[in-house]
Formats: sequence, structure tokens, C-alpha cells
Amino acid sequence: MSLYITTPIYYVNAQPHLGHAYTTIVADTYSRFRRLCKEDVRFQTGTDEHGDKIAEAAAAAGIPPKEYADRISRLFQEAWPLLNIEPDTFIRTTDAHHVKTVQEILQKVHDKGDIYLGSYSGLYCRGCERFLTDKELVDGHCPDHQALPQPISESNYFFRMSKYQEWLIDHIEKNPDFITPERYKNEVLSFLSEPLEDLCISRPKSRLDWGIPLPFDAGFVTYVWFDALINYLSGIGYPDGEEFNHYWSVAEHIIAKDILKPHAIYWPTMLRALGLAPYKRLHVHGYWNINEAKMSKSIGNVVRPETLRQDFGVDTLRYFLLREMSFGLDASFSDETIIARQNSDLANDLGNLFSRSLTMINKFAKGTVPAPADLEPQDRALAEAATSMVAAYSAHMKSFAFHRALQEAWSVISLANKYIVTSEPWVLAKDPAKTPRLNTVLYHLAETLRLIGLVLLPVMPETSMKMAAALGITPEVFRKHNLIDHGIWGLTEPGVKIQLGASLFPRLDKKNGQNRSPQKQKVQAVSGESIEAESDIGLISFDDFRKLDLRVAEITAAEKIDKSDRLLKLTVMAPEERTVVAGIAEYYEPEELVGRQVIMVANLKPAKLMGVTSHGMILAARDEKGRLTLSSLAAGAMPGSKVS
Ligand code: MSP
Repeated sequence: MSLYITTPIYYVNAQPHLGHAYTTIVADTYSRFRRLCKEDVRFQTGTDEHGDKIAEAAAAAGIPPKEYADRISRLFQEAWPLLNIEPDTFIRTTDAHHVKTVQEILQKVHDKGDIYLGSYSGLYCRGCERFLTDKELVDGHCPDHQALPQPISESNYFFRMSKYQEWLIDHIEKNPDFITPERYKNEVLSFLSEPLEDLCISRPKSRLDWGIPLPFDAGFVTYVWFDALINYLSGIGYPDGEEFNHYWSVAEHIIAKDILKPHAIYWPTMLRALGLAPYKRLHVHGYWNINEAKMSKSIGNVVRPETLRQDFGVDTLRYFLLREMSFGLDASFSDETIIARQNSDLANDLGNLFSRSLTMINKFAKGTVPAPADLEPQDRALAEAATSMVAAYSAHMKSFAFHRALQEAWSVISLANKYIVTSEPWVLAKDPAKTPRLNTVLYHLAETLRLIGLVLLPVMPETSMKMAAALGITPEVFRKHNLIDHGIWGLTEPGVKIQLGASLFPRLDKKNGQNRSPQKQKVQAVSGESIEAESDIGLISFDDFRKLDLRVAEITAAEKIDKSDRLLKLTVMAPEERTVVAGIAEYYEPEELVGRQVIMVANLKPAKLMGVTSHGMILAARDEKGRLTLSSLAAGAMPGSKVS
């Protein structure tokens, strides 16, 4: 199988930031994953360089638009290798072959009769350089420029998008995987339930010069989408390039929700007008917020990938982004959350397993992986868990559930850590009669680590290479490994020499973060309705505090409560099973809660909320704007443990 994967091409009016980095890391991880499944992959990213905004930014910088575009495009090109992102092509909309393809396509669609000259009238804001809709106006004024927009009527070219509306609805309905996650498919179908208007695709040259001229009317340039979307074709040599023939039928686009409409509606109808099959899939993700606030230049909280790389390292950043966001939903970035993930998941769980195992092989088996002897049930259980993890991981990766794929790997990591505790190799090492048992344990640890290292390759290429090297697999050999032939148990050859190296991840503390300080947060118990009791932090006695029975609760099921926008019914283990109602539905999807550990007030009198009896309250932080983040534990704890 083959894959052609793309990211949006980013506007050159802003420098690369965390949002761009996320989409591009997802594309890179997915490319590496499919390559690891022995597939043939082509990965494209690039920059979108025409339009008002870029012309304006260039004017502000006092340089010609092309020079400006060169400068910012270079920043994107230089940013990706720093994050170990390896696209096969980097396309720019100012590339001559792209410009030529756009013009050929415009001509073709025009010849077919699907582009026509019409008139456009509306309220035009000179400051915004665009038409504003009635909804955007505040007391008839542009809210950004406090100016009265001018009624303008001008001729423009339109693409007959409406003609393809029925076809598109039918295509989306017949191909349930065309737009995923499903919420975005539903959003598009709901939009399509109203009549579709034709798409204005030009601007008069007198108003916008920085664009691609229409081949059939030199008085106009094409506007934004009819230029940008075509990169997905021009990049692979449409109409007759070999790559185009090979890759178009396997095209998958990754975008965020901000550009859903152009990708889910304009693009497939444009392709239909061209007589081409639509792309295969559109993967839509949510937005990264910073400390729960929208990332924006004016707030000054824009996060640069280079800074994150310096503060935390590439692999931690890649791991964090993929583990923390559930693809499709919004997520929040903060130094605290990335540091917590580094310390618990990476330094503690993975790092400790790795260093303990290698140190023991070094010390108890003279630095070579010993041959296993007779197996006990717990050895079989570990081997079985590690191999079935590979399958479960792959299934999640295929469906873009990166956080779940990683959870699968981490459940094996925690099982292996428990295996060390229960098999006590240091005790076995004291008794020569127990050497066969010791060897079995050490072999199982080495082989489990090999499989974990292999599945981590798409997400953390450097860590994965380090793990392989430590287990005696040279980079040349490891580069040829794949999930199909090597994702099975038992390939570590007894006798292989391990290489002890530095630890995989250091523990971090707060100074590793820049000053992206979180807003002050208050801890409060979230329950439904009006019992949101803030624990206002006045002074209380220790005896008062002791009255609270705080417990670690693991969420095993979550569902919405009928007729309530705020309430979720949670089933938790603490350690006995109980039902808790929490007022968190506006912030969390039920699916993303399962498996989380939270802190619960366990000794509250039961209360009935919307017909459901709640036997506890979950603690969460609420910031000054009222937004909420659930409490969590840095490292996994036993459900029911007392929190003190
Ligand atoms: N040039 C157009 C896209 C044309 S594609 C044919 C454009 N450019 S953009 O620079 O604004 O990039 C938008 C994309 O950047 C989003 O779809 C997403 O991939 C990424 N992100 C920008 N901000 C983001 C967040 N805060 N969070 C997650 N991704 C975000 O639109």
C-alpha cells in the first residue's frame, strides 16, 4: 500500500508556532508509522505565500512580497528538521511549477463552463481588505477598525460550486471515513443541508496585486483557496507526472478545524469539476490553547517550536503533543503539563524500566542478554502483553488515535516495571541455583524493551534509536526493522552485547519552562448544579483537613447525562466501584476520560443530580476565566490510595 500525506501549507505572515508544529509532527509520525508497516509514503508540507495579508506584512516590513515570503518560508523550512520532521517535499505557492498548474486548472475549469464572471456586492472594510458579513458588524461598524464599511459592487469570477452539492453529500454519506473524526463529518453535512453558494475565486488586480493572474482575464488574480488547495496536486506533478499517477488515489490531508470548510467543501467540488477523484481521507484535529487561553500574538503567548525544543528536547515535545491531545478535540499546553509528562511517563516509567533493565543485564549477566530457560506464567503474560500491544498500537495509529496507541505502549511499560518488582532479579542473583530463572527474567525485559523501542520510533525517533543501540542493534540494522517482521516476540538473540549509555530522560523541574506562567488557579470540587464548593484557602486546622477523605479514583466509564449540558456520569474505581456526577461536560468528552486517574473527595454525603445519585466529588482546577482542568496524578497510583 502507498500513502500520500499532506499538511496545510502555512501562511507566511506568521512564524512557525506550536499549532503548525503539531500538525506537521502528526504528519511526520504518521508517515514514519506507515513506513514502519513497510508502506511506500510521500509526505508534503509547504508555505502559502499569496494574498492581502502577506502583501500587507511585506509592506509593513518595507520589502517586496516575494522577498518577505522567502524570508518566512525559510523559517518554516528550517524549523522542521529541528523537530526531526522529514517531509519529502516542501512546496511554495510562488514556485513556478505551482503557478503554472494553478493557471492550467483555472483554464480547464473555465473552459468547462464552471467558472463565470458575476458581480459581487457587499460591505467592504478597507482595513480588513475584505467583505464583512452582517453578523461581523457591530453597530454597522467593523469591530477591528471602528470604520464604516463601504458598499462595493464589483465584478468577480465565481466557481460553480453549487452544481456539485448533491454529489458531495452523496460522496460523504457513502464514504464514512472520508472526513474524520465523525464530529467534523457531521458539521460538514449540516452545513451542506443549506443551499451552497458559488465560490468567489478572484480579486481585481487593482485591489490585490500579489496573486496568480487568471489566464483568461489579466485584470484579475485568483484568490486564496483556488491557489492554495491546488498545491496538493502541483506538488506531485499533476496532470501527467509519474508521482501524480501513483499517489493521487492515496491522498490523505491533515488539517485543524479552522480550515475544514475549504478542505471538505471547496476542494472536493474543485476536484470533481476537474474530473478527478476526491482525496481519500481528511483528518481534522482540534486547537492547542496555551494555559487554556487561545494562542495569539496580541496576548503574547505564542509558543515557538525552537524554544520548546531547547527547553524540553525534541522527543519530549513530540511525545507530549501526541499523548496529550486526543485527535479531533482541543487540548491545552502548559509547562506544568509537559514537565509532568516528562517526569512521570518518560523519566519515571520508561526511563526507569530501561535503565534498571540494562543495569541488571550488565551486572547480573556480564552485559549480554542471556538465553531464557523455563517459562513461568508471568513471563508468558509479559510476552503476550507486549505482542498484543503491537497490534493494538497499530490499530490506534491507523485511526489517528495517537494518545491511545501510546497508552497501549505505556501499559506494557508499567507491566514490565511490576514484573521487575515481583520477580526480584537482585534476589535471584544471590543464589547460583536460580541463574536460569534470572536469565529468563532478564531476557524478557530485553525483548519487551526492544518491542517498546520499535513502536516508539514514529513518535520519538531519537529515543527509539538509543534504545535499539543499547540493546545491541546497530543503526544500519535498526533502520531496516519494521512492525510486520520485527513486531513479534523472540527476535533478540541470546548472547547479544548491550551498550550501557546515559539515561533516556532527565527529570525536569519548573525552571525548564520559559515564562509562560499559568494563570492563577483555584482548586475546587466539581460536581453538578450548585454544589460547587470552592475550598477557599483560608487557614484550617490539621484536624479539619483530616476530615476530608481524598482518594485516587480511576475513571472506568463516562457518559453524558440526558438533558444536561454540564453533567457527566462517571464510574470510578476507588478501589470499589462507585458513581460520581461531575459538572465537566463542557470541557471533557466522555471518551477522553476513561483510564484517567483523578482525586476524589470520597466521604461526602450522596447527592442526587438530574436523577443520578453522586457518591463523591472530583477535584479540578478552575482558572480566572472559569475554565477547568481535572486533577491528575503525575505517576500512576493504585486506585483507592489515600491522598494526603
Ligand atoms: N494557508 C492556509 C492553509 C492552506 S492549505 C491548502 C492556512 N494557513 S495557516 O498558517 O493559518 O495554518 C493553519 C493551520 O495551522 C491549521 O489548520 C493547523 O494545521 C495549524 N494551526 C494553527 N494554529 C493552531 C493551533 N492553535 N492549534 C492546532 N493547530 C493549529 O490556513
